Amino acid sequence: MSSSSSEQILKIENLNISFGEGEHRAKAVRGVDLDVRRGELHALVGESGSGKTVTSTCVMGLLPMPPAVIEDGRIYYNNEDILKYTEEQRRKTRGREIAMVFQEPGKYLNPALRVGEQIMEMLRLHLGMSGKEAEVRALEILEMVGLGGNRRVLKSFPHELSGGMKQRVMIAIAICCNPSLLIADEPTTALDVTLQLQILKLIMQLRHKLDMGILFISHDLAVVHDISDRVSVIYAGKIVETGSREEIFNTPAHPYTKLLLESVPDAAKRGKKLTTISGRVPDAEHFPSGCAFHPRCPLAEDKCTKNQPEMAAVDGSRKAACFCLDKEWRK
Ligand SMILES: Nc1ncnc2c1ncn2[C@@H]1O[C@H](COP(=O)(O)OP(=O)(O)O)[C@@H](O)[C@H]1O
Ligand SMILES: [Mg+2]
Repeated sequence: MSSSSSEQILKIENLNISFGEGEHRAKAVRGVDLDVRRGELHALVGESGSGKTVTSTCVMGLLPMPPAVIEDGRIYYNNEDILKYTEEQRRKTRGREIAMVFQEPGKYLNPALRVGEQIMEMLRLHLGMSGKEAEVRALEILEMVGLGGNRRVLKSFPHELSGGMKQRVMIAIAICCNPSLLIADEPTTALDVTLQLQILKLIMQLRHKLDMGILFISHDLAVVHDISDRVSVIYAGKIVETGSREEIFNTPAHPYTKLLLESVPDAAKRGKKLTTISGRVPDAEHFPSGCAFHPRCPLAEDKCTKNQPEMAAVDGSRKAACFCLDKEWRK
């Protein structure tokens, strides 16, 4: 086994997931390949409805099946295919090896349990820690996520905390067993800009301290600009471009990535009108033929409506799936 593959903490291969049956069958995820290396932050970016949450809940083993069907694919965690795991193996992995934070902590936190009890339950379950030991550790973890290490938060119920504090508590629960992989699904989307920056900063600190690989999911390229090592762009259930942060932000190749970037507000463009991408992500029951992006693409030509472009090497570490990469971009 090559050293690069052993450094891959997560490797998703050709993942295909659909919902429903017959003419209502919706292929939400269509051949996704994605990997996360130890200690790196890989951002998965695309508009709402593109298959990000379906992909990440599948990695967590939390996809409701039915209605979801995994039609094909493999998900390797440390070179083991976790789609073959039993529910028991899954439970042991979830929270211990692979942890997740969500957009809305309110839905995830148990309203009837004090914050400290929720963290201590994880420590007891996965690490076998006893009461006193778990309490000491819970205080350390709360300190680590910027909640001061005082007993007040430990003894609080979720509803007694602000939105930002709840998000920190959810992060505390996620990292308390020192997972190797953290999946963060739009963890800052529900927060105002100031809180958003604080949470992003916290995630970056924790990543360095704990050497976690992070799959960071966002609908907003601007959010991942400062934090990502690599970026993959997803459209209608398919990755359309993947590359290093520099490649994606400095020289985007795929028309969809270019349009996403044009719709990002930056300091230079502030005050000017932003481009928005016209049209919307098609729903999974009605993906267009050929390249699913062709109805919204300014470069699309006849063949784009008929054939589906595959991911192919472009330059450096970058790959993209587009027939028109050499065409001049509009000014
Ligand atoms: N439980 C479900 N039943 C049917 N379709 C679903 C279900 N969950 C997600 N989908 C469909 O899968 C597609 C991808 O959804 P999702 O992964 O939530 O997108 P994202 O997280 O990128 O916004 C959407 O078209 C959505 O309608
Ligand atoms: Mg989502």
